[in-house]
Amino acid sequence: MHPMLTIAIRAARQAGNFIAKSYEKPDSIEIMAKGQNGFVTNIDKKAEQIIIEVIQKSYPTHTIITEESGQILGEKNDIQWVIDPLDGTTNFTKRLPHFAVSIAVRINDRTEIAAIYNPMLNELFTAVRGQGAQLNGYRLRLKNNNELEGAIIATGFPFKAKQHSAAYINIIAKLFKKCADFRRTGSVALDLAYVAAGRVDGFFEIGLKPWDFMAGELLVREAGGIVTDFVGGHNYLTSGNLLAGSPRIVKKMVLEMQTELSDPLKS
Ligand code: IPD
Ligand code: CA
Ligand code: CA
Repeated sequence: MHPMLTIAIRAARQAGNFIAKSYEKPDSIEIMAKGQNGFVTNIDKKAEQIIIEVIQKSYPTHTIITEESGQILGEKNDIQWVIDPLDGTTNFTKRLPHFAVSIAVRINDRTEIAAIYNPMLNELFTAVRGQGAQLNGYRLRLKNNNELEGAIIATGFPFKAKQHSAAYINIIAKLFKKCADFRRTGSVALDLAYVAAGRVDGFFEIGLKPWDFMAGELLVREAGGIVTDFVGGHNYLTSGNLLAGSPRIVKKMVLEMQTELSDPLKS
């Protein structure tokens, strides 16, 4: 196994197990407001520390970029670990058991390693660039659903950027005419892992951050899917507007969405 994947898995499992234990002890959870409609807990922060410690033990010189601590610049800035210690914090605070740890390793701006761990189901999604994606050691292949008809599309509401509400609802209305149904699970990392696993056929969301999707993006690609922005381009790292699925589904979603995009969403 790739040595960095071994460390990513160790970190994801240790943090995930801590989160799952904390889930059983609601009194130990302190919830703080963060930005518009967002939350962070002491558990997010502790899980992040656990991950940082595991990485630094093996790779003290690598850069680490995390949601809660920001950037820890290492001597080797060409290797970056991008971490969301708890993706699905709102679910976690509501005791809705759907959340995950997400860890990606980027070397020279290309994602090489991905690990997403759902501690409640003991599901570990992993990918190494060029070597495929796996769930608990079994190879993942994205379902080749090529039509929007019958497709289940996962999405997230723009709850932190409500200026996009009207455009978002228009996109949903347009897609809903063609697809079978939608899912809003509350965890981007798991949404993308589920695209890779064929549990949903496509995904889109406005304004994501790198730690939300970096690991999931590699999983989707290594399972045979593609990831683009809302016009089929590659600007999602900057815009955070992300679309994922099989190449044919993504192409069809892009076509349907075009007429509904406001200017800021055209990238
Ligand atoms: C959030 C979740 C949610 C998505 C938000 C993310 P967090 O991440 O993934 O599904 O809709 O855009 O910010 O805050 O729980 O790590
Ligand atoms: Ca997140
Ligand atoms: Ca988070």
